[in-house]
Amino acid sequence: MNQTKIFGVIGHPIGHSLSPVMHNAVFKEKNINAIYLPFDVDPSNLEYAIKGANALNFSGLNVTIPHKISVIKFLDEISDEAKLIGAVNVIKFDKKIFGYNTDGIGAIKAIEEKIGKIKDKKIFIFGAGGAARAIVFSLILNGAEVVMTNRTLEKIEILKREIYEKLNKEIEVVPLNNKIEEILKKCDVIINATSVGMFPNVNDSIIDENLIPEKKIVMDIVYTPLKTKFLKFAENKNCEIITGEKMLIYQAAEALKIWLNLSPSDVVEIMKNAIIQELKKKWK
Ligand code: ATR
Repeated sequence: MNQTKIFGVIGHPIGHSLSPVMHNAVFKEKNINAIYLPFDVDPSNLEYAIKGANALNFSGLNVTIPHKISVIKFLDEISDEAKLIGAVNVIKFDKKIFGYNTDGIGAIKAIEEKIGKIKDKKIFIFGAGGAARAIVFSLILNGAEVVMTNRTLEKIEILKREIYEKLNKEIEVVPLNNKIEEILKKCDVIINATSVGMFPNVNDSIIDENLIPEKKIVMDIVYTPLKTKFLKFAENKNCEIITGEKMLIYQAAEALKIWLNLSPSDVVEIMKNAIIQELKKKWK
């Protein structure tokens, strides 16, 4: 029996998600009998959504804001990485309900594509939310040295303690002020893992242009627009940039490996083309 496999993404809101475009492009191109749909799930319905999807024999779900942490209590088992990060973005239904996190590996792949192995590289992260957590844990597991800041500094102090307790590794925490330039100069890669600059606030940047050092690798996790104000500033300072759709594509490719055992190298180009076309329609 070749029954259509059902996949989807749950979030709230979900209207802007690019995941259906990417995954359905792969299913079409690879002749896979599957469909991927967006589902807007109110937080009060999260348990019903997970149990319902399981009962309906869904094959897998992506999980996005605001459910990445709260979904864990409705799963049977979660991977070591998801446990470490404290968030799940991929669910597989297969007798039991399994949770994984592919955001961190998505970020690592996006960076390594540009600079090679990140081991012993010094990497600066702005932010302390779900995305920043996935990135910092994965960077440390891959041997990078990490410096972090956040608008609310206490959140980073808590994260620093958690990283020390779980991995026995120290991260450096610095305040978000004008002295940051000197610290950024000593870093190889600078990542905006906050939502600053995301549509509709496209004129915002996490820091001003004059604080960005020359000739660094600068990455943004925001992809609406593709070239954020922060990345435009970075280009003005002769930095190389990594746009936000890269992490999105790589985390999605890793999800397809978990769900259907597809090789990421086989699907990345298809996803890239689908997403770029879609983004260009909206964000010239
Ligand atoms: P996500 O799961 O996508 O990371 P999140 O958990 O809401 O989303 O985290 C958003 C991040 O963007 C946080 O680091 C947040 O800073 P605070 O911890 O101080 O809230 C950061 N952020 C959002 N708006 C910001 C702004 N206007 N200026 C600076 N940082 C901002």
